[in-house]
Parts: sequence; structure tokens; C-alpha cells
Amino acid sequence: MNFRDFLSKRGKHIEDNVDLSEGTLAWNLRAKKKAKELSGVINATIGSATEDDGKLMVLPTLVEELRNLTSDQIFSYANMRGEKEFVQAWKKDTTDTYPTYLQEGANKFSTLPITACGGLTGGLMISAQVLFDKGDTILAPNSRWGNVDNVFFKNLQLKESCYELLDKEGNLNFDSLISKIQKAEKEEKKIGIYLNFPNNPSGISPSYDEVKKFQEVVEEISVPMTIFLDDAYEGCVYEDSAIEHSLFPYLVGLNEDVIIIKVDGVSKRYFAYGARLGLVTVGFGEEVSEEENARAREIIAKATRSNTSSAPKAIQMAMGNVLNDIEKNKKIHEEKKRNICLLEDRYNCMKKLLGEKESSVLQPVGFNSGFFSFFQIKNKQQASEVSHKLLEKGLGTVPFENAKNGLNGVRVAFCSISEKNIEKTVDILYSI
Ligand SMILES: Cc1ncc(COP(=O)(O)O)c(C=O)c1O
Repeated sequence: MNFRDFLSKRGKHIEDNVDLSEGTLAWNLRAKKKAKELSGVINATIGSATEDDGKLMVLPTLVEELRNLTSDQIFSYANMRGEKEFVQAWKKDTTDTYPTYLQEGANKFSTLPITACGGLTGGLMISAQVLFDKGDTILAPNSRWGNVDNVFFKNLQLKESCYELLDKEGNLNFDSLISKIQKAEKEEKKIGIYLNFPNNPSGISPSYDEVKKFQEVVEEISVPMTIFLDDAYEGCVYEDSAIEHSLFPYLVGLNEDVIIIKVDGVSKRYFAYGARLGLVTVGFGEEVSEEENARAREIIAKATRSNTSSAPKAIQMAMGNVLNDIEKNKKIHEEKKRNICLLEDRYNCMKKLLGEKESSVLQPVGFNSGFFSFFQIKNKQQASEVSHKLLEKGLGTVPFENAKNGLNGVRVAFCSISEKNIEKTVDILYSI
């Protein structure tokens, strides 16, 4: 029997194109294997934050709430659109992070979030499915998370148009994105854009000036445009010059031809990676009727239901209970702040040390947020070659190389390095 003979065209396409043997998980396995041969290996491959003692960083209030759930709260079916108390609280929790003057617009021009199964990936998949057909163009940054390729370009077979998020000096620049939008406006019937800040792998978030430039382009666009905001790491920003929350409130209400799909979830925002809960919020370019608002929400719910049923119940109940209880809400935000401060200490330590050294091979980009630092390769070496060399010296990293879109660099996940190991990390990085 040849299983491939049973596959649909789409199944064959997925088999041929989606590669699970490379990327973060593969480099994590390599780092773990190396740790068995060599003592003191630093594993900076995985984007899950860990405490200084190596244990997973979690939020005790959420852990406790999950422990106290009743059987009904865990095992009964969840509402297909999301548990009402939870999604309402999630919307408030998100909007509260925006500057006050933007909160009203953000509420007025958007739906309630809809839960998607399978984390943010589920949210990206479901929303892209209902908005784009095979062959439609999506503008995606050269510096991007591997699953973006899996979802948009390999599974859904959308057409890639790549913009350079990072210039040669490693700074964020929207000029390439803007010129790609202007080109696509002339050539395409509709445009999709994927934005992810804080960015994986580069650790970059934009400044207010940069976003203003982008807003001006969004205001002028005259073909239907959908902007996907992958807000996995929202709130983890360490410099005042960078926007510390989602771009959502800056982009809604600007242009009737533009909709914003905000994809977020508990994975990183509440340090609950395995809870598999993502959310999709639709943002409009103008005020819409209640019917139109409900319709947008319903389409996403229908797509979710017909793909993956409903999202997990337990995490919705626990998060809803915590967010809706004044004391618990305060407590979990203090715990979140404590975790982000820990990440910020590692970030500051790394920035300081990098500022004192030079490498002939690695050029740090202007990372200012998120879980990662990123280094472009200055010479002709491939990033994977560099990652292999670093691993031999006891540092696990993840290479990102894509000759076609000009990205060649290594990602160092400071979220999973203890502060005392940051100096050793930088020493290894700059020893090759
Ligand atoms: C940019 C980005 N989006 C989303 C996610 C999380 O997706 P999920 O919730 O599906 O695990 C990650 C995780 O690594 C990510 O880096």
C-alpha cells in the first residue's frame, strides 16, 4: 500500500511542502542532544520563557484557577463562539492596554473576539481561510515565524510577496512594505498583509513615527486590504521608543476598504503555551451596523466550527474567572509584570554586553521587545552553519535563512536563558 495514492492534491501539497523536521523544534532537539554530551550547554532555541532555574515561567494565579475548576467547567462543551464571560473580559483586557484616547475607537470599530482552537495558529488559519483564496497575494516580512509559511503559503497556497522588515543595518523599516503595497494596489484585486510585533525572530517592534507612516498609506489605499496582526507577544516591550501594545487601535477606523484581523491568545500573553487557545477580533475601517458586526463574527465562528469544532473550555473558564474577579485580575497582572520585568533584565543585560563588543560574523539587529534577540550574518556563511558552530561551543540557537527573501541570521531566545548565563551566551556568540 502506498499512502500517498490516497491523498488529495492538497494532501500531497502538504506532504511535499510542510517540513516538521527543521526549524525551532529540530534545533531544540539538537541542543538537548548536545547537552547530554557537553556540560553547561545553553539552550536558547525555544520561545517559551523559563525561570532562572530552568522551570517554565507561569502565572501562579492561573495555575491555581485551573486547579480549582469543577468537572463541568473542564469537561462540558464550550460555546462555539467562545465563553461569553471570557471573550468579553478578553476584549476589555486587550483594550485596557491601549492609550485612553484610542480605546473608544478600538471598541467601536471591532467585533467581540471569537475563540479559535489550536492557539494563534488556529486563528491565523481560520481567518485566512475565509478571506483569501489559493493564489491570492499576502505580503509577509522577510523576518518571520516559520508557521506563517506553513499556514499561508504551504497549506493554503496563498502567493507570497515578501517585504524587507529589516534593513541591512538591522533596523525596522516600513519603506519596503509601503512600496510593495503600492505595487500590489496596481496589480491585485485584493491585498493581504501579515504583521507581527514584537516580531519573531527579530525581536523588533516599530516606533510611533514608523506606524504613523504606515497609517498614512492605509488611509489612502483603494483596493480591499486585510491586515493580519499576529499579536502573540503583545505587551513585552522594553524601550519607550517602541509601541508597547497592538497596532490594532491605530489601524481601525481609517479606511472603509481596510479590515484588521487581530490574532492573539493565551500562549505568550498569559504564559500558557500548551493551553491552545487563540482569539480573532475583526476590526473595521468604518462604523458598521450591528448586523454587519455580528455577521463578521459569525463567519469566523462558522469557519472554526467547521474546521476544529470549538476551543478548549477549561482555559476559557479559568481565564474568564481570573479576569472578571477584581482581586485575581490585579494579582495576575502583577505576576505578568514580574515575568516581563525578568525578561527585561535579561534584555538589558544582553544589550549592555553587546554594546561593549564587536563581532566580525554577527550583527545584532535593533531588537527592542519580545522573547528574542537576532543576529544577521555579516559574512558569506549560512546561518545554519553558524548555528552548528555555536552549538559545538555550547549554545543552542535557531538559524533563519531564506536566500530568496534576503534573511540570513540566528535567533537567540533570551526568554529561556537565565540572567547569569547571558554573559556566557554573548561570549560564545562573539567567539566565532
Ligand atoms: C509570531 C508567533 N505567532 C504565534 C505564535 C504562537 O502560536 P500558537 O499559539 O499557535 O502556539 C508564536 C509562537 O512561537 C509566534 O512566534
